[in-house]
Amino acid sequence: MTDLSLHLMDIMQNSLTAGASCVEVGVKAQKSTDLLTLYVRDNGSGMTEETLKRVSDPFYTTRTTRKAGLGIPLFKASAEMAGGDFRIESAPGKGTTVTATYEISNIDRKPLGSVADTVTMCIMGHPGIEFHLILENEESSFVFRTEEVREQIGDVPVNDPVIIGYLKEMIEEQSRILFGGILNEIIS
Ligand SMILES: Nc1ncnc2c1ncn2[C@@H]1O[C@H](COP(=O)(O)OP(=O)(O)OP(=O)(O)O)[C@@H](O)[C@H]1O
Ligand SMILES: [Mg+2]
Repeated sequence: MTDLSLHLMDIMQNSLTAGASCVEVGVKAQKSTDLLTLYVRDNGSGMTEETLKRVSDPFYTTRTTRKAGLGIPLFKASAEMAGGDFRIESAPGKGTTVTATYEISNIDRKPLGSVADTVTMCIMGHPGIEFHLILENEESSFVFRTEEVREQIGDVPVNDPVIIGYLKEMIEEQSRILFGGILNEIIS
């Protein structure tokens, strides 16, 4: 996978498969500590302790079409190869939070890529699900919730192409504002 937003897409897909009605994505970049944190939190089925234990192992998956699930192992590897950490918190019936951290300046850290594309594609494909996005640097943050968009657009569906285009531009702009000059791949 070429960039971190594609990993996020994979992990969000897990949340949707787990029956989540709300999926929250967070991206936090701290220049002073050289730390980038990504998380995906959902209110889906959660994992049993047994699943949780085995989930970082590529030969474990509950899907029946093929043997090895790779979403989580690859996300974990992306963090560990870039001097970061990885953790999953999950409880059956409660939901799951998957968190990966990266050394921003590590040569093996993949570029963030387009979080705007990832999130808007999820909204397009799953208009009945609520998505939250939190972008954060040390000084400020941007919070986006589909619930608030719905309130403002009334009868227009949240996956209307015009709405999606608008959301994509807004998230792109906020990513530039918050991460430009902190993540070297983003020009502010
Ligand atoms: N958010 C989640 N909620 C509940 N269970 C999850 C969640 N994410 C992962 N799992 C469990 O962990 C397993 C492994 O996930 P992983 O993404 O690594 O592989 P996969 O989704 O099975 O296959 P792939 O991602 O390669 O298509 C899943 O099959 C599922 O049982
Ligand atoms: Mg998966």
